Amino acid sequence: PFQVKLASSGLLVNVPVGTTVVKALADAGMEVMTSCEQGVCGTCLTRVLEGQVDHRDQYLTPEEQAVNDQFLPCCSRARSPLLVLEL
Ligand code: FES
Repeated sequence: PFQVKLASSGLLVNVPVGTTVVKALADAGMEVMTSCEQGVCGTCLTRVLEGQVDHRDQYLTPEEQAVNDQFLPCCSRARSPLLVLEL
């Protein structure tokens, strides 16, 4: 489990094991636009301001993933206890 924080509102959301970031945010009232929900289309691409991403998508190149400034919240997770997102 880890937490995501929205940079705009400061809203802090828990992401339990077995729940996607998109689902956890939706439950907290923050809808992220999605399409494939499998990490292939890029629709849900979100900028990451802080924290370490655990990339699980097939959309970003390994080079883009390594930069750690964006991720696909429909499938990717966190390696750090907190991700701060530009939402
Ligand atoms: Fe397609 Fe997230 S919804 S990559």
